[in-house]
Amino acid sequence: MLEPSAFYPPAPTPHRAPLGPLALLLTIRRNVLDIWTEADFRLPIQLRKTIVDRRALISDPVAIRHIFVDNARNYEKNELQLRLLRPALGVGLVTANGDAWRRQRQMLAPFFSPPRMNALAAAQDAAAAQSAARIAAVAQAANGDRTLDIADEMGRLTLEILEHTLFSAGLDYVPSMFQKTVAQYLETLGRLDYLDLIGMPDWLPRWNRFKGRRTLRFAAQVVDGMIDARRRMLDSGESAPPDLLTHLLSARDPAGEALSTREVHDNIVTFIGAGHETSANALTWTLYLLSQSPHWRARVEAEIDTFAHEGPHFADLPLVRAVIEETLRLYPPIPMMSRIAREADAVSGVTIPAGTIVTVAPYVLHRHETLWREPNRFDPARFLGEQRAQIARHAWLPFGAGGRTCIGMGFAMSEMIVVLRHLLRRFRFDLAPGHPVMPQVRVTMRPQYGMKMRVRLR
Ligand code: HEM
Repeated sequence: MLEPSAFYPPAPTPHRAPLGPLALLLTIRRNVLDIWTEADFRLPIQLRKTIVDRRALISDPVAIRHIFVDNARNYEKNELQLRLLRPALGVGLVTANGDAWRRQRQMLAPFFSPPRMNALAAAQDAAAAQSAARIAAVAQAANGDRTLDIADEMGRLTLEILEHTLFSAGLDYVPSMFQKTVAQYLETLGRLDYLDLIGMPDWLPRWNRFKGRRTLRFAAQVVDGMIDARRRMLDSGESAPPDLLTHLLSARDPAGEALSTREVHDNIVTFIGAGHETSANALTWTLYLLSQSPHWRARVEAEIDTFAHEGPHFADLPLVRAVIEETLRLYPPIPMMSRIAREADAVSGVTIPAGTIVTVAPYVLHRHETLWREPNRFDPARFLGEQRAQIARHAWLPFGAGGRTCIGMGFAMSEMIVVLRHLLRRFRFDLAPGHPVMPQVRVTMRPQYGMKMRVRLR
């Protein structure tokens, strides 16, 4: 087997000094990954006061635990930021705060329990098989052009997986129309300005906010149609598919109350928004990183071949898992999370004044010089055996931490393993010659130029 040669995947070079206010705004619009300075990757906690607000960047695992777990009630999501997301996402699990969030989380959690995830693996597997058939057609194309944009294909695949697991088949809608509407909806969501997501003040102009309202209205009608059809099915006593839609309509809180129609609606939209691009990007980056590392590709292929006879639920593939975890370290789909400090607090000996916008940036944390050896190097061995045990708690946070940890984490890990098993068993992916690669943030971290890859049958 080939020896691993050091591979440092592409990323923006950190600046020597902080950007000035105008350059900062322009860079945030272009690519928020390009705002960081060398000090950000070296210092545990930084406080900055701008003309607009007070901010803290936290990369100290102990402080992160304090903010997300021990004193989480003091650090809620910023209401201003949430108000800006709500026209697209409503008040579902991502955008609810306080007691409204706690109630929804409690009601939704059982759907994402491990036994349920096993049942969903079969649906994930079926969608992966469809994707493999599409890719096989490209690999065997008669005209010799065997390239495809794998970012597009992964986007389509993860959407199909959501469709099959959240809404099942056989609903009262036309699938192609649903797909088109969802694609348009996501494009609109993708155009939500990053200024909103990082909590910049409302008076700064956002041109994007005026676009896409019609799409959102149309998507809302399609979702309402689905809810009505399923409610009729449940009311008539017909047996309904055990998917997220049925769960949302049947779940009861401790007082015996159901979710309102609005809450059901907003959560459907929320789960499409939260569960689609995140996984698609993670899979795309994984295929890219493996294409650049013959050593790890060979090891992963050997592992997958060894367990080829196992069924779709089989997820115990330590090397595949380690490669995914290393991908999520280098290219975390959600590169920044922010909260607002309700009251002043002391965090690892530093005073955080009330009203401070506190940011934990997995992108920075995962490449922090004090937490990772050779942080910019692709090396899945960090997540294996002894080395894995040395990773500090809360130094690796692609799925967040504390009460608001990603509810779809188990779903996503199972999905990624299932998909990679299917694809890497049959195909070998290589970056198309000359194709540029750079991460860029548009809500999630995606490849700026897509990911054109040449595909061969193994
Ligand atoms: C690789 C894939 C994924 C990544 C990296 C990811 C990452 C994250 C992160 C970092 C958060 C926390 C944000 C914060 O604390 O501010 C989050 C929350 C969330 N994620 Fe994921 N996610 C992924 C896949 C999914 C999937 C597949 C689903 C649904 C099927 C999903 C649904 C959600 C929801 C609903 C929340 C909000 C949870 C709450 O606030 O209670 N995610 N995700």
